[in-house]
Amino acid sequence: MITLAVETSCDETALAIYDPEKGPIGDILLSQAKVHSPFGGVVPELSAREHTRNILPLLDRLLEETGFNLQNIDFVSFTLTPGLILSLVVGVSFAKAIAYNLGVPLVPVHHLEGHIYSVFLEREVGYPFLALIVSGGHTDLFLVEGFGRYRFLGGTLDDAAGESYDKVAKMLGLGYPGGPVIDKLAREGKPIYDLPRPLIESGDLNFSFSGLKTAVMNLIRKEKSYRVEDIAASFQEAVVEVLVSKALKAVEKTGVKRLVVVGGVSANSRLREVLREVCEDKGIELRIPHPKLSTDNALMIAYAGVERFKRGVTAPLDVNPEPNTPLEEFGRLWT
Ligand code: KG4
Ligand code: ZN
Repeated sequence: MITLAVETSCDETALAIYDPEKGPIGDILLSQAKVHSPFGGVVPELSAREHTRNILPLLDRLLEETGFNLQNIDFVSFTLTPGLILSLVVGVSFAKAIAYNLGVPLVPVHHLEGHIYSVFLEREVGYPFLALIVSGGHTDLFLVEGFGRYRFLGGTLDDAAGESYDKVAKMLGLGYPGGPVIDKLAREGKPIYDLPRPLIESGDLNFSFSGLKTAVMNLIRKEKSYRVEDIAASFQEAVVEVLVSKALKAVEKTGVKRLVVVGGVSANSRLREVLREVCEDKGIELRIPHPKLSTDNALMIAYAGVERFKRGVTAPLDVNPEPNTPLEEFGRLWT
């Protein structure tokens, strides 16, 4: 049961060939970071254009590198939602064209579901578990009761955690994406500035990061001279404290002591360090994927695609990408 997986929801063109019996046969990824960096964020039209330009040569390269014959795939997995609609259109059309040509089924995957199952590529997790998804577009907490059975517990009311990293990096003139560079600078700085921890005291599991971003902007304006490393460390400390506190609150509320932390921001070194410490202390089973699997990739889409295909669920050839279908609803519809 071999799948080709296609992921184009944001600024990474990613393809993978995956065999659940043997593991990854190959995966390839082309980041558009350089294209978007001058703008401090992803420009949707440029993203779609880059996907269109790169996806076919990328498949050729993947087939060449692996020596794999595309005729041997059993189905095509692809990200149906959520994402930048023009970018999704490229991946979905590509997936359809291959499925039609080879006469194989199409299997839709939710991008966040892909992130959740990225940890399964390393080792399976027992159900139920909590999933904290922290990426450029999302900051959500879910209770995962089984494949396709996702219960939304809380999410951001404004900016996503990764988005706040990207916006703060833009203010500091650090380019895009902001996460990795702030992560690196923060390690050389001290968290000397007192920044807000939005909603940390609220009883619910929601997040808010836009006020924190504004607080950083005001701080930069107020301080005549500062070390960018100290701003980075202070900002990062605030984000990490909020994320860890809400994850612990979710454990407390549900009584589920298994936590999966995924998405681009889960690559953050400080977040990993603090989570490891508190989870060990509280006897919580913690799973964070390798940083390479934290950020967008197609292997995670392949894994979720295999799980769906095993359950006999496929999509018709006239399926259309959707910009923002909630994960809970997607799970109900496609499982
Ligand atoms: O999951 P992802 O690759 O794409 C989306 O689905 O959004 O996440 C990208 C986000 C960006 O906002 C990026 O700045 C952030 O993840 N990110 C990080 C780190 N690496 C990537 N944030 C904090 N620390 C990192 N090391
Ligand atoms: Zn993502």
